[in-house]
Amino acid sequence: MANIITSPDAYQFWRDDKLSNIASSLDACLVEVDDLNCLTDAEKNQILRLCSANNFALFQTSIPNNIEASLVHFNQQFGLQEFDRHLYVKDQGLAHITQTKQKNQAEFIPYTDRAIGWHTDGYYNPVDNRIRAFSLFCVNPAPSGGENQWIDHQIVYLRLREQNDEIVKALCHPQAMSIPQHKVDGVIRRPTSTGPIFFVDELSQQLSMRYTQRKKNIEFYNSAEIVEAAQLLDELLATQTQHHFSHTMQAGQGLICNNILHTRRSFTDDSNHPRLMLRGRYFNQIQTSL
Ligand SMILES: [Fe+2]
Repeated sequence: MANIITSPDAYQFWRDDKLSNIASSLDACLVEVDDLNCLTDAEKNQILRLCSANNFALFQTSIPNNIEASLVHFNQQFGLQEFDRHLYVKDQGLAHITQTKQKNQAEFIPYTDRAIGWHTDGYYNPVDNRIRAFSLFCVNPAPSGGENQWIDHQIVYLRLREQNDEIVKALCHPQAMSIPQHKVDGVIRRPTSTGPIFFVDELSQQLSMRYTQRKKNIEFYNSAEIVEAAQLLDELLATQTQHHFSHTMQAGQGLICNNILHTRRSFTDDSNHPRLMLRGRYFNQIQTSL
């Protein structure tokens, strides 16, 4: 497949195809799943079709007894097997996203009740551990707040390129964004991560993105064009287009996606029944041609 970043013809073909298939209503992206462990052909095909067009699908089901094992099996049916073994991942590859009182873990915003700005997961990972897909499942919502917003990163690229192709050229610079190393007690837990914001991923051959709005964590390449392009990216994310989605997931609802851009609003918890989301992060994309 020709590179859509560098080939104008490939871009035009991809653009037209993308715009004619992408969804703009939440209802059209929600699939009822009877049994996470054993999808029907219709359920599976619907999820694959949605992920192929939009890079995500929402699903809803009744929560079985062993929800972790069922989710792992659900994800495996889409080829999501190689999971990220990061610090707080539990067995079977799922992290429990819930508030924690543990001091070290609470330094990471997902394990607090605070809002999280636009980002792709694992934006700080080295290329060898690139996150290409993730799943997020709601076991228990917060009494108030905790809404997620998301947008297909590919449609963000498309909109910016249509606005002015100099913007996406700047964001594709090989050193566009650096995430400083993470050090704990003098030990480097994660090295500096430098790379483009938009790129064609070698493994999947798909237009992909690494990004975070956490300004204190990032450094842009020393170029006025790149800083301005990142501002225009943030402006687009802050608007409400037909391709922005907002939803507060209810118990039994989940998202499976090719590491799209997403946010979380802050929430108020019930300490007797805390908000709990199960998240899996994977090194490969959703296999749309199973
Ligand atoms: Fe995330």
